[in-house]
Amino acid sequence: MSSIPRDQWYVAAYGREIGQELFTRTICGESILFWRTRAGTVTAVSDRCVHRRFPLSQPPSRLVDDQVVCGYHGFTYGADGGCVAVPGQSRVPRTARLKSYPVVELDSFVWVWIGDPARADAARIPRAPWLDSPGYTTVSGMEPLQARFGLLVDNLMDLSHETYLHGGYIGTPEVAATPITTTVDEEAGIVHVSRHMDDAECPPFYAKSTRLTGRIMRWQDIEYTPPCLYKLHSRIAPPGVLPGADGGDPDAFHVEVVYAITPETEHSTHDFWAVARDFALDDQGVSDFLDEQNRTVVLQDVAALDVLERVIATEPAGYQELSINIDTGGLAARRMLAALAGQGAPARQA
Ligand code: FES
Ligand SMILES: [Fe+2]
Repeated sequence: MSSIPRDQWYVAAYGREIGQELFTRTICGESILFWRTRAGTVTAVSDRCVHRRFPLSQPPSRLVDDQVVCGYHGFTYGADGGCVAVPGQSRVPRTARLKSYPVVELDSFVWVWIGDPARADAARIPRAPWLDSPGYTTVSGMEPLQARFGLLVDNLMDLSHETYLHGGYIGTPEVAATPITTTVDEEAGIVHVSRHMDDAECPPFYAKSTRLTGRIMRWQDIEYTPPCLYKLHSRIAPPGVLPGADGGDPDAFHVEVVYAITPETEHSTHDFWAVARDFALDDQGVSDFLDEQNRTVVLQDVAALDVLERVIATEPAGYQELSINIDTGGLAARRMLAALAGQGAPARQA
């Protein structure tokens, strides 16, 4: 049985990736064709011609106004997936229709609903407003991962790995040494993991971007909404500087690190990442630095997870992992994902 929850919203792309030309991406094993219509809306339909399966993203298939013409024999489809013309006959078969996917553009992302369209409710899309907000400056990208999406969820839910895998970038000894607090909001479908370091070394990622020197307070508050959206609320401040009683926090630096975890197939993943900051908003040097640093960090994870995928693929069945306190967030996430995928409860904590 698939571990990928269907009947879910997934990030398919950044809005900037989709223009008035054909764009394809595989989401949850389904090849989907996107383009932006002349009215500006993003359309998403199956990337397989109903005639002989030729990919509609593949030249010489082409977009003519708001219709896509198959490059093999010329079946022509509208933005809603309906076939409007076939070669050699005037009658278009009633069943000639591409599967069409609900799409919503929100917070710089293009979200697509995989599964039963009747169950698509745009109000359930989790939000990441900073990515598209004038009070923040954002750098972002996407790295392909040759590993199942659950490995990326495990990775992001347990940031103790920063100390080891990302030393010299975002890792310092305090991350692995500081215990976490995990809570699960079953009703909202969110896993929270918090790690508050009140006296920590400042890693280069934050030292160079905030220009804070010496020790810092570093708070990491994770909010994961399975399956797709992961948010790390990162708060950096001089030691002893706390948010005000009114909720204001003018002397701290806030970085919203957002990941969209989208399965490409059972064994590969689109790793969308974004870093939004509320300081140095117009400083291109800071943007370039955070862009390069975060991409490097993501690629360190990608390298490790690609190895893990290959290890898992070749090991005998029945390997037993050992879980400890740092894994409570990851295990909670696994349980929620399994429930969403209709598999019941899997691994328990040792
Ligand atoms: S495969 Fe598309 S028209 Fe034949
Ligand atoms: Fe990482």
